[in-house]
Amino acid sequence: MFWSRISGVYDLVENVYNGKTNRAVTDYVATLMEREDKVLECACGTGMFSVKIAPRAAELTATDFSDGMLKRTRKKCSKFSNVTVEHGDITALKYEDNVFDKAVAANVIHLLDDPKKAIDELRRVVKPGGTIIIPTYIHFNASVAANLFNRAGAGFKRHFDENTYKDFFEGLGITDVQYHISEGRMACDTAVFVNK
Ligand SMILES: C[S@@+](CC[C@H](N)C(=O)[O-])C[C@H]1O[C@@H](n2cnc3c(N)ncnc32)[C@H](O)[C@@H]1O
Repeated sequence: MFWSRISGVYDLVENVYNGKTNRAVTDYVATLMEREDKVLECACGTGMFSVKIAPRAAELTATDFSDGMLKRTRKKCSKFSNVTVEHGDITALKYEDNVFDKAVAANVIHLLDDPKKAIDELRRVVKPGGTIIIPTYIHFNASVAANLFNRAGAGFKRHFDENTYKDFFEGLGITDVQYHISEGRMACDTAVFVNK
C-alpha cells in the first residue's frame, strides 16, 4: 500500500520540508495532554505525534492501518513503557465505547472516503467529556510536497482551508470547536472539541 511504500521517506519530507509546522503542531497537541490521560492516536504514521504525546499522558495506544508506518512508530516509541502500537482502521475501531480520555487523529481526515464514519468512531470510543483532537494540513493543494505525495498515490480526497475545515465540522453538527493554526510551509489547523 502507498503509506507503507513511502514510510521510509515520510520523516525526511515532514522534518525537512515542513519541520517548522510539524514542530509547532506536535508541541501544541502535547500541551493538551494531562498526566492521567488514556489516549488513542489513530493514523499515527511514523509516530511524529506519538513521541510528543507519550511523555505527557498515562497511556497511549498508537494505531495505523499501514504496517510500514507502524514499524517506524514501534521503533521510535520503544523507549516509552506506556505506549502500545497496534494495527487499526480509524473507520472501524476495535475498542469498546467510552474508554479513552482523548483521541488524536492527525492528517488523515482529508484522505478518507467517509470521514464522518471516522469522527463517529472517535466519538464512540472517547468518554463523554473527553477531548477529540484533529490536526489537518490546510492549503496543501498549493504545497510541493503534497503534490508529490498525491502524484505518488496518496489519494487525497479533499483539500481544506481555514473556512472549509470549519464548514466540515459544522456540517457534521459539531459546532463547539476550538481551532489552532500552526504556521509553516504547509500550515496545520488543529480542531479540538469536547465529546458530548
Ligand atoms: C499523512 S499521514 C499522517 C501520519 C501522522 N498522523 C502525521 O501527522 O505525521 C496519513 C496516515 O494515515 C494513515 N491512514 C490512512 N487511512 C487510514 C485509515 N482508514 N485508518 C488508519 N490509518 C489510516 C496512513 O497509513 C498514514 O500513516
